[in-house]
Amino acid sequence: MQNEAIAKACCADLYQSDMAKLIMGDSLHPGGLGLTNKLGRLMGLQAGNLVADLASAQGTSAQALSRVFHCSVLGVEFGAAAVRSACNAAPEGSTAHFVQGDAESLPMRSAVFDAAVCECSMSLFINKAQAVAEVARLLRPGGKFGLSDVTIEPGSLPADLEGELGQVLCMTDALTADGYVALLEEGGFTITERLDASGEIAKILDEVEGKLAAFLALQNMSSSTSGVSTSTTSIESQLEQAPGLVTKVRKMVRAGDLGYWLFVGEKRP
Ligand SMILES: C[S@@+](CC[C@H](N)C(=O)[O-])C[C@H]1O[C@@H](n2cnc3c(N)ncnc32)[C@H](O)[C@@H]1O
Repeated sequence: MQNEAIAKACCADLYQSDMAKLIMGDSLHPGGLGLTNKLGRLMGLQAGNLVADLASAQGTSAQALSRVFHCSVLGVEFGAAAVRSACNAAPEGSTAHFVQGDAESLPMRSAVFDAAVCECSMSLFINKAQAVAEVARLLRPGGKFGLSDVTIEPGSLPADLEGELGQVLCMTDALTADGYVALLEEGGFTITERLDASGEIAKILDEVEGKLAAFLALQNMSSSTSGVSTSTTSIESQLEQAPGLVTKVRKMVRAGDLGYWLFVGEKRP
């Protein structure tokens, strides 16, 4: 149990890191807020709904859902620093609120929420069935669960993507699309929507390639103008290897081994 708590804290630290911000920006999932709003539409979110956002990070999606669908959103996030940023960034009068908590043991009352979302995070949860059981507990019967996440075919992850980078990209413990469907169905949900959004990963890769090229060019310029080869920090050395890794990830997407899917489940009575 103590090891699990350490693993969750490390995971939260990773998503609050400069590397995660550099790779993903503010919205920490493929497709950004466009895909968040699409998920909200597929779920049929209505004005006045009470919505939970599991693993809400800095609150970007929760704020968007509250604004676009006129919902009240409660974001739950393991990382305390991310929760502080989300609270500080909330505009005056916002109907999105944030608490620190574990998606596998949600600090909310049962059967009071109309809907829940979980974007690009189920893949990271250590006990996925427990997180789904928690969502089922807090939703009223007929409540909607919108899940979007990375999908991966078993055995397709290259060895050099198994470490931190694979984790920051939500790849190491992701399921197949059928795996998420089975997880939701076994957790008491009937699947009402299932949508392939894997094209969004290719767009992220284009952006990441552009950012990496700019970063590496700047790095070369500063070491050639100073004439001194500065010692390489761990983040810089990881970034130097990144273009090769981006090519590998692109190949996986093309081969259908890596994807990003949206699912909506309705809680069975
Ligand atoms: C890839 S980010 C996605 C964040 C956000 N849902 C989004 O799409 O922008 C994953 C987030 O899950 C959080 N997380 C991981 N395990 C968690 C847990 N057991 N409970 C709550 N949050 C968790 C991490 O701290 C991180 O903020």
